[in-house]
Amino acid sequence: MRDKTALVVGASRGIGLGLTKELAGRGWTVIATRRSASSDKGLEAFADESAGKVRMESVDLEDPASVDALAERLKGQPLDLVFVNAGISGSHSPAARTTREEVAQVFMTNSVGPVHVAESFKDQVKDGGVIAVMTSGLGSVASDFFFGSGANLYSASKAALNKLTRGFAAALGDRKITVLCMSPGFVRTDMGGPNAWISVEESAKGVIDVVEAKAGTGQHGFYGHDGATIPW
Ligand SMILES: NC(=O)c1ccc[n+]([C@@H]2O[C@H](COP(=O)([O-])OP(=O)(O)OC[C@H]3O[C@@H](n4cnc5c(N)ncnc54)[C@H](OP(=O)(O)O)[C@@H]3O)[C@@H](O)[C@H]2O)c1
Repeated sequence: MRDKTALVVGASRGIGLGLTKELAGRGWTVIATRRSASSDKGLEAFADESAGKVRMESVDLEDPASVDALAERLKGQPLDLVFVNAGISGSHSPAARTTREEVAQVFMTNSVGPVHVAESFKDQVKDGGVIAVMTSGLGSVASDFFFGSGANLYSASKAALNKLTRGFAAALGDRKITVLCMSPGFVRTDMGGPNAWISVEESAKGVIDVVEAKAGTGQHGFYGHDGATIPW
């Protein structure tokens, strides 16, 4: 795919950096965000080497004003893909033992912030384009994935993301935009840990294969990095 532009939110490291590299490798121009230089694990170096194909921006999904400021800076920029990858695992305490602040942080970052980004950029996404959020198989209410009570709040935040994204997609009406809830697999990153099942490269390749295959269909669905449909 040539001459396409993507916004990737949460690209400082892990899967988001992998998505940025995969898109750039396929000829896309990428606007890639991080929160700060301190957590950058390769984005800045990759952008520096990209001859302008990868441009860095910053946004913090926990802060609505930061999302609004990004939207203001990128006003008028046509986009073929908006991919909100950012997410946190949050507190590992059982939900009933979690503080108000911890609940707010995980739901702002994983559920509300991504939809705020989608709302902010939907008018800049071209017809035939894609808006994707990175959810998780753990966000499937219909399946029986269970990672222990320490992952319950995270799982609930991803289920909330799926539900909010469904409402967002329904409200798009006749606009021919594909809306994807993507599960990346169990991936070796800071979040997934060293014993997770697949590499960042394998996950990112699979996820972008799905994005490119679904572009132009106008569908809304929940898919794994292998293209399999996941039950809501
Ligand atoms: N790894 C897995 O096995 C797995 C499985 C299922 C789903 N996922 C999902 O895949 C996505 C990426 O996960 P990962 O494994 O690559 O995690 P990661 O290595 O921990 O990276 C998380 C990314 O999200 C960004 N981020 C966190 N909080 C943010 C905020 N408030 N505003 C903006 N950016 C923020 C981080 O930026 P900073 O560097 O600034 O912190 C970083 O770029 C997440 O949504 C995660 O829930 C991962």
